[in-house]
Amino acid sequence: MQYLVTGGAGYIGSHISLRLSELGHQVTVLDDLSSGHRWAVAGLELIEVDLRELLPLREALAGRSFDGVFHFAAKSLVGESAERPLYYYQNNVAGTANLIEVALESGWRDCVFSSTAAVYGNPTTPLIAETHALQPINVYGQTKRVMEQLLSDVHQQGQLNAACLRYFNAAGAAADNHRGEWHEPETHLIPNILRRAAGDDVPLTIFGDDYETPDGTCIRDYIHVLDLADAHVGAMELLHRRGGFHTLNLGNGRGYSVMEVLKACEQAVGSGISYAIGARREGDPARLVADASLAADVLGWRPARDLQAIVDSAWSWEQYRRELAAGRV
Ligand code: UFG
Repeated sequence: MQYLVTGGAGYIGSHISLRLSELGHQVTVLDDLSSGHRWAVAGLELIEVDLRELLPLREALAGRSFDGVFHFAAKSLVGESAERPLYYYQNNVAGTANLIEVALESGWRDCVFSSTAAVYGNPTTPLIAETHALQPINVYGQTKRVMEQLLSDVHQQGQLNAACLRYFNAAGAAADNHRGEWHEPETHLIPNILRRAAGDDVPLTIFGDDYETPDGTCIRDYIHVLDLADAHVGAMELLHRRGGFHTLNLGNGRGYSVMEVLKACEQAVGSGISYAIGARREGDPARLVADASLAADVLGWRPARDLQAIVDSAWSWEQYRRELAAGRV
């Protein structure tokens, strides 16, 4: 198959691009490299274009034929989204509208979309199912909710099949440790802990230990990026087979507190990691854990990697990332 992967040079997008390529598919990555990395798509076709610009986008893709589109390109920092709402709506919502316009003009019908648990907001149930109310509490989650709605509305017109995959906390790295999470600035828990463990001179702060959880720190459902890759492949195959519009949670269905993640990281590193307890971070729900049974039913998808496997792979990647950053590899 021939696939277009927007945001394919980013963390999750590059893992899926590689998996598709390993499966023998032709992959074209479309990325503006505003946060993605050129090295992450070495060996794949890369089109550098910004989704906000319809005419260059149309021109770059003119005459191309794809069996499906994986759409990852988006801004994804919760804090930044509060400071720059228009930037988020332009990149995420307007960018998606442009992409879908070109897809419809070109006759590409199947789209797997990178969504998020942030569409739910503060959960009202211990496990979050897809039927849970969509009440995002930050601009980032709002834009993803609107992007889902846009895809659903276009689907209603009979023009597009879509699978919106709502990830919980994506983490972990490739088995050969040559690919993984690298954001600047980094805001995510596991890379922040591991950068500290590797000797970065930045303090590690745990945002709040007074939540209503057993140890007082926030609980999240961490899911390995390679498990996410399997689900994306399965979702595209579902669209090719049956079409339709689907929303599916992707998580392990098991929650870990920030302190439990820290312990798993200490286990991976083989030593203690210093930290400080700080204030709560605005907009953090106490607990976000997936009910991922629908993805199991519909895709036959079962995540294979647990928290320790996630942090072990992330730690191995952290060593390699530092070599890359220093220009030694
Ligand atoms: N945390 C810390 N210290 C840090 C970083 C994070 O204590 O240095 C805590 C957070 O407060 C939170 C937990 O670790 O309780 C996880 O935080 P992350 O930033 O790693 O992830 P989030 O749960 O905030 O966000 C992730 C994705 C978002 C997505 C969200 C959906 O990064 O894109 O899940 O729930 F919107």
